[in-house]
Amino acid sequence: MINRDSKQQNERTGKLDTSEVELQFFDSCYMLKEEEDEKWSGWLKPSCIPLTIILILILLVVVLPLLDNEKNDDDSSARLSDLTYLRKNCNSPCVFQLVESIPENLTYTKGSPLHPSIFEGWLDLIEKAEKSIDIASFYWTLRGDDVVPDPSAWEGERVFQELLHAGNTRNINIRIAQNKPSIYQPNKDTEYLARKGAATVRSVDFDRLIGAGVLHTKMWLIDNQHFYIGSANMDWRALTQVKELGAIMYNCSCLATDIAKIFEVYWMLGKKGAKIPPTWPISLQTDINAETPLGVTINNTLTDVYFSSSPPLFCPDGRTSDIDSILDVINKAEEYIFVAVMDYFPTTLYTKTKRYWPVIDDALRKAAVERRVHVRLLASWWNHTRPSMLYFIQSLAALNSNDFQIEVKLFIVPTYTEAQAKIPYARVNHNKYMVTDNSAYIGTSNWSEDYFINTGGIGFILNQSQNDTASSQPITDQLTAVFERDWFSEYAHSLSEFERYS
Ligand SMILES: *[C@@H]1O[C@H](CO)[C@@H](O)[C@H](O)[C@H]1NC(C)=O
Ligand SMILES: *[C@@H]1O[C@H](CO)[C@@H](O)[C@H](O)[C@H]1NC(C)=O
Ligand SMILES: *[C@@H]1O[C@H](CO)[C@@H](O)[C@H](O)[C@H]1NC(C)=O
Ligand SMILES: *[C@@H]1O[C@H](CO)[C@@H](O)[C@H](O)[C@H]1NC(C)=O
Ligand SMILES: *[C@@H]1O[C@H](CO)[C@@H](O)[C@H](O)[C@H]1NC(C)=O
Ligand SMILES: *[C@@H]1O[C@H](CO)[C@@H](O)[C@H](O)[C@H]1NC(C)=O
Ligand SMILES: *[C@@H]1O[C@H](CO)[C@@H](O)[C@H](O)[C@H]1NC(C)=O
Repeated sequence: MINRDSKQQNERTGKLDTSEVELQFFDSCYMLKEEEDEKWSGWLKPSCIPLTIILILILLVVVLPLLDNEKNDDDSSARLSDLTYLRKNCNSPCVFQLVESIPENLTYTKGSPLHPSIFEGWLDLIEKAEKSIDIASFYWTLRGDDVVPDPSAWEGERVFQELLHAGNTRNINIRIAQNKPSIYQPNKDTEYLARKGAATVRSVDFDRLIGAGVLHTKMWLIDNQHFYIGSANMDWRALTQVKELGAIMYNCSCLATDIAKIFEVYWMLGKKGAKIPPTWPISLQTDINAETPLGVTINNTLTDVYFSSSPPLFCPDGRTSDIDSILDVINKAEEYIFVAVMDYFPTTLYTKTKRYWPVIDDALRKAAVERRVHVRLLASWWNHTRPSMLYFIQSLAALNSNDFQIEVKLFIVPTYTEAQAKIPYARVNHNKYMVTDNSAYIGTSNWSEDYFINTGGIGFILNQSQNDTASSQPITDQLTAVFERDWFSEYAHSLSEFERYS
């Protein structure tokens, strides 16, 4: 399966796989054998002897260490599967970089964790691109010209110009998968990029494909090597007026190859007349999931990693669904679960009749009650928050006591200037992540059922609590510090400050 995947990958990049090279050698030897004198058997024929020796050497180099490993392995059932091969060969020197958008004028006390901005991260990714940029996105308003102009729109404008430049002048192949445009989200940016020949754009029509939902994913993939995943939309506000969090992985082709499969699903479904296939092509299936994450060295620390995807209909065989990954991380926490999510509803929000959906709520309560895990939920509050969220989180917080630790707070991004007050849909904590004592989950979805049944989203799950490394967990440590910075800041409000609507 792995070979087929890499072959498919290489068809795009135009490179030849070493396994294909081997096949071609075989072919030429075999063909010669038919034509040449019968007295030489194929393998011993003079023209083939060097090749035969090389092949035997390859066999010795590749197979012997594996056999040896197996002998030394206590677990006798260790299998020489494709996954084992990939694990052993994932030598990418991956670097993990947390990136954040901190809204204009929002400040923290001195010494608080500070990470590069998403703006800087995106510019860096565009600059690093040599061949391709693939972007999976919800809507596009990077240019400030579709709203009341705001001086802080320049960062979005700059990203837009750099993309235009990359596609037009630097010959970078830009593919954009976006949610289907609408009157409210006309996506003039991508229309412009396409018209100028800077990008190929496909729109995914969830209404037609599954009857509801949107493509809500926010993901960038550069040269099948670096990628970004996080909460920021392709919106100038996401860089200067909305609080966002994401992760960039550099030099990580073995993981990029897997996230590329998620992009290819959107790309395929963005084709005119596309339908969800009864079975997905093998090239889009994966072996990297919650049961068998990929072991990758990230910042010199062995890390178990996989990607989850939503909705389940978009998950080829082997892909863990987004909701399953969230539950798995919650269920495996032993000491603490810190959740930062914009909207938290144990219901559906967008279905005709509201459905109660206590799946995540139950898992959090269970963790606190049965395993005495310390749960903290930091949701967001702004003018558009539905009042019922307050009731649900109050119900969760009602358990907080001497017996159980479930704390809930609401984060409010203040408006400091008149100009800020005039910007629609800004000044909110928009990030969506969770960190536990052993894992980090960085996602793109709000936590209500809609996001897991018919909305396109992804999760990036990292576990550094491996047995064979030191106890250091740089990624979860960093994310925990970011969570605590926000939790203990003046912007996180205790529920007692909120009046109960009736
Ligand atoms: C807010 O930030 C802007 C841009 O950095 C700055 O010019 C302005 O003085 C700040 N205003 C306040 C009230 O902090
Ligand atoms: C990625 O690898 C390149 C080439 O080895 C190196 O120059 C670069 O610094 C690496 N990037 C990061 C972020 O470590
Ligand atoms: C992370 O890895 C540790 C050690 O293998 C394991 O105990 C824990 O359950 C894992 N957590 C998740 C969410 O997979
Ligand atoms: C929220 O709405 C109130 C009243 O409608 C308004 O006074 C306030 O400025 C708004 N807040 C924000 C952050 O837009
Ligand atoms: C969830 O998140 C999106 C953006 O990521 C936001 O626009 C939306 O209003 C949020 N809330 C709900 C209830 O869907
Ligand atoms: C590491 O392995 C030992 C022995 O197999 C086990 O007792 C211990 O719980 C493991 N630790 C973790 C963090 O998985
Ligand atoms: C990984 O390394 C990069 C580059 O050195 C650094 O900026 C980043 O903070 C590190 N990440 C973690 C989780 O330590």
